[in-house]
Amino acid sequence: MKLIVEPATRPLSGTIAIPGDKSIGHRALLFSLLSATPVRVLGLGDGADNGRSAKAITALGGSITRDGAALIIHGTGLDGMRGPAQAIDCGNSGTTIRLMCGLLAGQRFATTLFGDESLSKRPMRRVIGPLAQMGATITGPRGGEGALGGPHDITPPLVIGPATAPLTAIDYALPMASAQVKTAILLAALYADGATAVTEPGPSRDHSERMLAYLGAPLTVTGRRTVIDTRGWDRRLAGDGFEVPGDPSSSAFLVAAALLAGAGEVRLPNLCVNPTRTGFLDAIAAMGGSVAREQPRDAGPEPVAELVVRGPAPALRATEIAGELSVRSLDELPILGVIAARARGTTTIRDAEELRVKESDRIASTCAMLRAFGVTCEPRPDGFAVEGNPDRPFTAARVHADGDHRIAMAAAVAALVADGPTEIDDADNVATSYPGFAAALRQLGATITTA
Ligand code: S3P
Repeated sequence: MKLIVEPATRPLSGTIAIPGDKSIGHRALLFSLLSATPVRVLGLGDGADNGRSAKAITALGGSITRDGAALIIHGTGLDGMRGPAQAIDCGNSGTTIRLMCGLLAGQRFATTLFGDESLSKRPMRRVIGPLAQMGATITGPRGGEGALGGPHDITPPLVIGPATAPLTAIDYALPMASAQVKTAILLAALYADGATAVTEPGPSRDHSERMLAYLGAPLTVTGRRTVIDTRGWDRRLAGDGFEVPGDPSSSAFLVAAALLAGAGEVRLPNLCVNPTRTGFLDAIAAMGGSVAREQPRDAGPEPVAELVVRGPAPALRATEIAGELSVRSLDELPILGVIAARARGTTTIRDAEELRVKESDRIASTCAMLRAFGVTCEPRPDGFAVEGNPDRPFTAARVHADGDHRIAMAAAVAALVADGPTEIDDADNVATSYPGFAAALRQLGATITTA
């Protein structure tokens, strides 16, 4: 699929209901499989990635029914999963495959997990290493030359289990800030005897800690260290339900569109504003952009608010995004690169080497996308530097999205401030996280068509 985007001719305006957060959605599905009682999930997003986790839990013996706007997840409890009849297809979803590794590590049956071309290049040693230390058997092929983690990393398809004994508790220091790896270990820890500890070097998203505690897991968090101690625990998880708030990572594209094209008023209600997810708002503030937060409330274990952008495109200035801020805005760095290209001065992004192993090598693909618009962008080993120029429109471009949803959506936003129509090829993967993205931009007043 191709997206064709015209430059915006007037400020954007409207209220958009952003679909449910992808990370929370995966966890609501996969954790509810472990629940002893049915769990009501409201607001699950419609992206293909969450669909992969939904299919995976039914393959393992769970079932999903609908009750009005809510889904009811009927889980198996911790010890009732059954071996799947077939290999499980994780599609494009790194979160599905890595969380499933943890969920399956202690099961008495074997499961094969595979994915699409992009997922088949992504590094899995980071999750297999600690799970193997816990006694799990997980095997997969060496990635070879095309692997994002290098030729010696392990890539899907993966065969997990069967486990022949309870797993062993470990005390593990994560080499990188990764919520997926952290969560895989915490899930496996439910099947280990004793206290398993995970310490992370930076503040990766903490939805798992909040949601597992909410379901009654024996979990404690002290600073960057999370412990699951199964001693004396009745091995029971249960909860009434989860409300999945809107996805801040999806909202970032519309916030950027409203800032760059100008806004009458753009309102994005009911978004997750967990501090581990709002680094992009802090980066925008540092660049001189203003995004209001209204209607704050708690949706179960997650804080929620409405984001509002008003007024003409602000004069933006360059900034540096590094350290914790890079971790807290990692998925938003491609769209922050687009915003930086409209800010006066050179914006540098550092400490973001994890971008190399996302759905594409996002350091390379973000720079290639920005260059297609005539922007000077220099890749670095751990990030990139963007020369911003607010005075000149982007050059209308033909962009190849590299099969990466966030590159396609970032390019569509850049196209709103280009000097002619832009074509974005290979944009089908927008559906992995935000199938309604083009319709939302249209609803705000942009002209965007698909071909
Ligand atoms: C996710 C964690 C992040 C993020 C990904 C979703 C999750 O990856 O990039 O899109 O739901 O746990 P890390 O494992 O690098 O934190």
